[in-house]
Amino acid sequence: MANERILVGTGNLVNFRLGTVDTLRRVSDTLRFPDGFLFGASISAHQTEGGNTNTDWWWWEHIAGTPCREPSGDACDFYHRYREDIAMLSGFGLNCFRFGIEWARIEPAEGEFSRAQLAHYRQMLDACHEHGVAPILTFHHFTVPRWLHEQGGIAADGFPALFERYCARAAEALGDRIGYACTLNEPQGLGSSGWLLGINPPGHTDDRDGAQRVVDNLLEAHRLGAAAIRSRSGAPTGVTLALPDLQYEDGAKPGTSSLELESQINDWFFQLARQDDFVGVQTYTRFRYGPEGSRSPGSDWSDTTRELVETDQTTQMGYEYYPQALGGAIRRAHRSCPGVPILVTESGIATGNDEKRIHYIDTAMREVLACMAEGIDVRSYVYWSLLDNFEWALGYAPTFGLVAVDRETFARHPRPSAWWLGQVSKSGFTSPLAGEVGPRSGPGGDAGGWGRPAI
Ligand code: BGC
Repeated sequence: MANERILVGTGNLVNFRLGTVDTLRRVSDTLRFPDGFLFGASISAHQTEGGNTNTDWWWWEHIAGTPCREPSGDACDFYHRYREDIAMLSGFGLNCFRFGIEWARIEPAEGEFSRAQLAHYRQMLDACHEHGVAPILTFHHFTVPRWLHEQGGIAADGFPALFERYCARAAEALGDRIGYACTLNEPQGLGSSGWLLGINPPGHTDDRDGAQRVVDNLLEAHRLGAAAIRSRSGAPTGVTLALPDLQYEDGAKPGTSSLELESQINDWFFQLARQDDFVGVQTYTRFRYGPEGSRSPGSDWSDTTRELVETDQTTQMGYEYYPQALGGAIRRAHRSCPGVPILVTESGIATGNDEKRIHYIDTAMREVLACMAEGIDVRSYVYWSLLDNFEWALGYAPTFGLVAVDRETFARHPRPSAWWLGQVSKSGFTSPLAGEVGPRSGPGGDAGGWGRPAI
């Protein structure tokens, strides 16, 4: 077994034990994570597998006028290379892996389920177990099968029941191998991006009725899907939410930007999550608001006018470099669902500078420890992304990966951050930072002025 700090039974993964709050306080003082804490990396199916020709996104990538920079094509060819990738992740020292199953492969036509594709995903789960890696499995990460897209996609009347049936069939086939199950990835944004802003399929703009149906359907789909998975698998099940840290300054009040609407939708998902086994927290940055409006670069997901050049203060996404957002996101989830364990299922940075990535992760993990010291039950830190992968839209090709991928040869090139995070996983200690904690102000404002944390 690659990492003895997780417990792997002969069948299912056994949920790990946590110490008391007092123990956690002590470990936090010494910047040590408790035994059993999950350290890992994350990917989604459509962004890495390649050849997902039967999804709505494949259609969207191939029509003119969308904000897609390039089609997903072969992506990282993860569909064929998962064994090597899981072995690689385990070799770094990481003990969990979040990945997705693709509905369009499992149910290629309405009501027709593919045993071969389910067997494929079972082999992926088996590979995780062979390497002592806890699999965190996502059932829905933005894409739907083409046949469902043609019925209206997530806005279709039948969506919740169809999602429930897909979850049931997948959980029947895979349930005993799943470590943790995530029903829907970031559902709070799907209505606005696909039905109001037109930046995701089906590309509607200002379709308020459609957006409302999407939100209602996703809430119902999570309820039904989680129950279907739980009853067939027993794996802890929850939803994963995008929680940018929204900060109101100088008396500013929440407004009606799409980010703020999504934040209200998150409150409805939090209500459901109070009955769940965990809630998944995902964040990348903060957005500041003053009485005069946004004070941050990129005040809306649809804002494609922001500068997509990385600087000391920003990332390749054009958003503020602000790893401390993770603390705000965890505390919000805790306030909204007291007592529900928190998994950090995505935390990451798009950067051309791997030392900056290490600083980002180190600072974000210190936020996790600070939250645990306050008594919040946080059980994982999962970095987005394991691989440089296909990015959904918005015209840029960010490098989020712990591992660079050559898109011609599919060769994997691990970055130092991969080994560094693996080292934290193996030791349980965040490393002290050598040199400065933040960017040095340097000529040109590039992203180069980062000190290297010592291991
Ligand atoms: C999504 C990923 C995406 C990442 C960076 C997250 O919100 O879950 O699929 O690649 O953001 O944009």
